[in-house]
Amino acid sequence: MIRQSRKLEHLKYSLLLDDGPAAAGFTDFHLVHNCLPDLAWQDITVNTAIADIPLSQPIIINAITGGAADVMPINCELAEFARLTGVAMAVGSQYSAIEDPAAAESYKVVRKLNPNGVIFANLGAHASPEAALCAVDMIGAQAIQIHLNAGQEIIMSEGDRNFSGYLSHIEAIVKKVNVPVIVKEVGCGIAREQAQALTGIGVKVIDVGGSGGTNFLAIEAARGQLTLDAELMSWGIPTAT
Ligand SMILES: Cc1cc2nc3c(=O)[nH]c(=O)nc-3n(C[C@H](O)[C@H](O)[C@H](O)COP(=O)(O)O)c2cc1C
Repeated sequence: MIRQSRKLEHLKYSLLLDDGPAAAGFTDFHLVHNCLPDLAWQDITVNTAIADIPLSQPIIINAITGGAADVMPINCELAEFARLTGVAMAVGSQYSAIEDPAAAESYKVVRKLNPNGVIFANLGAHASPEAALCAVDMIGAQAIQIHLNAGQEIIMSEGDRNFSGYLSHIEAIVKKVNVPVIVKEVGCGIAREQAQALTGIGVKVIDVGGSGGTNFLAIEAARGQLTLDAELMSWGIPTAT
């Protein structure tokens, strides 16, 4: 029950709260003009790939939701948008469906509505390799995202604060599933040292998910009616950094 109401509250506060207050850092960069572009406009494509999975554009719908009947219409709309645009889509954490198979329909609908699309499964780093396999099979996913969210769990009153053994859990998942593993943060960033540790155990893609956008510390503080000091509100590695 708690996970279902939490999903709706996350959606509510992500819409109510502004991004930041930390800057994502993109304005620190300036693209250098090339006055001699030796190419033709019609030859330019935005095709790219994630872990050798071809994408028609370098944009994905990142993990948001699933797990309850009340959020299923959101996944239906996102899946329909993904089908029409060809954009890849990650479902929200599938842990609720691992615990209660009745919740699986809210994720499966994403594959049903977009049978040929690129879809990513999603679980936390505490998940067992068997759970990861089940999440991939549930939606016929081409890859699985494993999310890291220590900052969020610490501010969340009902948060899980035991972060030990994550690297070996993720390594076991990499060995078990037959699709690429993407590791992502949810707004606090991934530093070089941890990115190297993760790629060293076979993780194919790092989604840095840095600060400056959605702020899950602020969202959890709002849910728990806590006031965070300015330093905590700006916690994390800016995405551009
Ligand atoms: C309402 C909401 C729910 C989310 N749920 C999940 C989730 O279940 N699993 C996950 O890995 N990330 C989840 N995220 C995090 C996003 O996938 C993304 O990593 C994060 O919002 C940072 O990107 P942004 O700054 O561009 O928003 C959620 C984000 C929002 C706004």
